Amino acid sequence: MALNAIVIGSTGLVGQRLVYYLSNHPWFRLIGVTASDDKVGKRYEEVVRWSLEEPMPSTVKDMKIMKMDVNEIVAQKPDIVFTALPTSVSAKVDQELAKKGMIVVSHASNNRLDPDVPLLNPEVNADHVEVAKLQESRWSGKIFKVANCASTILTLALKPIYDDFGISRVFVSTMQALSGAGLNGVAGMAILDNIIPYIEDEEEKIETESLKMLGMVSNNGILLNDKFTVSATVHRVNVLEGHLEAVFLKTEKDAEVEDIKESLREFRNNKIRGMGLPMQPEAPVVVREEKDRPQPRLDRMEGKGMSVVVGRIRKDKEGWIKFNVLGHNTIRGAAGNGILIAELLYKMKII
Ligand SMILES: NC(=O)c1ccc[n+]([C@@H]2O[C@H](COP(=O)([O-])OP(=O)(O)OC[C@H]3O[C@@H](n4cnc5c(N)ncnc54)[C@H](OP(=O)(O)O)[C@@H]3O)[C@@H](O)[C@H]2O)c1
Repeated sequence: MALNAIVIGSTGLVGQRLVYYLSNHPWFRLIGVTASDDKVGKRYEEVVRWSLEEPMPSTVKDMKIMKMDVNEIVAQKPDIVFTALPTSVSAKVDQELAKKGMIVVSHASNNRLDPDVPLLNPEVNADHVEVAKLQESRWSGKIFKVANCASTILTLALKPIYDDFGISRVFVSTMQALSGAGLNGVAGMAILDNIIPYIEDEEEKIETESLKMLGMVSNNGILLNDKFTVSATVHRVNVLEGHLEAVFLKTEKDAEVEDIKESLREFRNNKIRGMGLPMQPEAPVVVREEKDRPQPRLDRMEGKGMSVVVGRIRKDKEGWIKFNVLGHNTIRGAAGNGILIAELLYKMKII
């Protein structure tokens, strides 16, 4: 039996990927899509500016855009609702849906740091799902969040190292793709022949959300990891998809380059190992040995876009471990992670 899913914000970059995955999914069935009010009632194919390399699924082309009205959405009896909206809109819609008993997987940044809202990156913290029961005091449904894309990619590389050696400090400098800013995000005139050393609120998100994903479950929800801090600088670069991040970290226990490679490849504490989730990559982290990898164009589709790729692992004279990590921001950092979370919720019998 397929589970019914609705995508809110289905015409955006993340929404389009959700539509694509749900239209081809063994467990889920796409039953509804929404966009801005002026598109309501029109055919999906007519209003969407399709931007994926994969063709638009034939089953969605004639779907009529639903009104983004919570009662109308609830009336369709979806088993799960995915939201991929600007944060200001999402903040209201997610909570209204949860108040009507819906299970929501949400991509925007609202509520990400609420202790009772799991911020999920399944290989890293599938066990955080359990704190969602604390939301019972607020609403009858449940909200699960997809994290900021750069944080999700970073945390996949930090997790095995943290488990094996401990971490005492992290610096990260990101080079983030244009698609991270959405379909209308960055003007061509601003980014051609250029790098922009600023993305609104992005550094703060990386510095907090990474620590939440690596945080601890407590009776009061998730506690941010307080064993180390993350300091971030961010850049928007002229790349379509794929965030590249330069990471500098100090481990608690001594670790050599080969130890770090082994730790990343083994990912010993993978919380979804063997679960057989369709979106789950064989290896969450792929380590490359070439001196000039990872690169966005060459490596972003590793594991169908669900693996992150780590390369240039080295150690300097002061003991800092340095490497680059790359991940596909709209797949691993957004819609792919959203689908993986939904699969996990299904396996855990939450939906
Ligand atoms: N892009 C990434 O890599 C990424 C990664 C992680 C998280 N996120 C987050 O995911 C969310 C979606 O990102 P995106 O890149 O897909 O953005 P996007 O391309 O700008 O798409 C936004 C979607 O929301 C709809 N929308 C906007 N305002 C609306 C309103 N007032 N009422 C109803 N629908 C409205 C848009 O519909 P129309 O097409 O009709 O305007 C569109 O479907 C954002 O919060 C973003 O921060 C993005």
